[in-house]
Amino acid sequence: MFEDEPNLADLDFEASVARGLTLRPRRFASKWLYDDRGAALFEDIVASDTYYVGRAELEILEAHAHEIGERIGDGGALVELGSGASWKVRTLLDAMPDLARYVPVEISEAQLIEAAAAIRSDYPALEVLPVAADYTRDFDLPAGVKDGPVLGSFLGTTLCNFLPANSEIFLQRMHGLLGENSWFLAGVDLDKDPARLVEAYNDPGGPLWDFNLNILQRMNRELGTTLDQADFRHEATWNAEHRRIEAAIYPMRDLSVTVAGQGFDLPAGEPIILEYSHKYSLEAFAALAARAGWRSVTAWTDRDQLASIHLLTNRSAA
Ligand code: AVI
Repeated sequence: MFEDEPNLADLDFEASVARGLTLRPRRFASKWLYDDRGAALFEDIVASDTYYVGRAELEILEAHAHEIGERIGDGGALVELGSGASWKVRTLLDAMPDLARYVPVEISEAQLIEAAAAIRSDYPALEVLPVAADYTRDFDLPAGVKDGPVLGSFLGTTLCNFLPANSEIFLQRMHGLLGENSWFLAGVDLDKDPARLVEAYNDPGGPLWDFNLNILQRMNRELGTTLDQADFRHEATWNAEHRRIEAAIYPMRDLSVTVAGQGFDLPAGEPIILEYSHKYSLEAFAALAARAGWRSVTAWTDRDQLASIHLLTNRSAA
């Protein structure tokens, strides 16, 4: 996927898991968490009381969508990366009646087509141009999209799951993709009290445990392993040096597993990292964006200062 990342996300599931088990600490690419069951469990996480990101972003969008619409002006295009079911974007679309085009970009084609049809029927004046693509790789925008102002959006704080250097590379690529006349909305989780973060990413009794251990079911089903979920526990910890949550599963006894014909030891107590979730101050993220060629126009937070949305631009005057 990106230069600094161990090459896990570009491989198929089996090769990626086998490669990840050779790393120390052992590591799986977080994208493997999102099979059908994982995606459904993630929806439960977003709806849970302790995970604040979805609610905080919605609060910010509801408060500032009109301002965003006014800045972008008439006849623009909104390019939404990782559009999913295209529900959050409705807050923006409702506040931007003069938007000409909506370009949802989503890897899951079935979800993309269904979401695009729903947006077309609810916003008949809008030209909807869906793009089925993995946004971590290069792809092109449909013809005409860059004729007017372009607003890219990447919400859900997924940018925080990339290593900071890779977030920078990603934002540089977005600059190239969207062109010189563009704006970018980035959802970024805020650095905050580690206790609050550890609670949100552990959430005892909530769906997180199943979400993270679901990777074992997926391995059993798709790779023919025979791992028992009861032999593992999940824990997310705070890495103060790197300002990130590290979600991992831990074998509770010495285990071994065969993947792609190779045998691997899974010693008791040694983590298998599933996900990094970086947290930024407003200033730290604006500085990262500046290194990628984007100027921070403004950044909003929810009233509890849990999450943020940055409005960036590459226009010379805005
Ligand atoms: C998808 N991503 C932004 C979430 C996060 O907060 O890093 C994934 C997540 N994992 C556990 N809870 C949420």
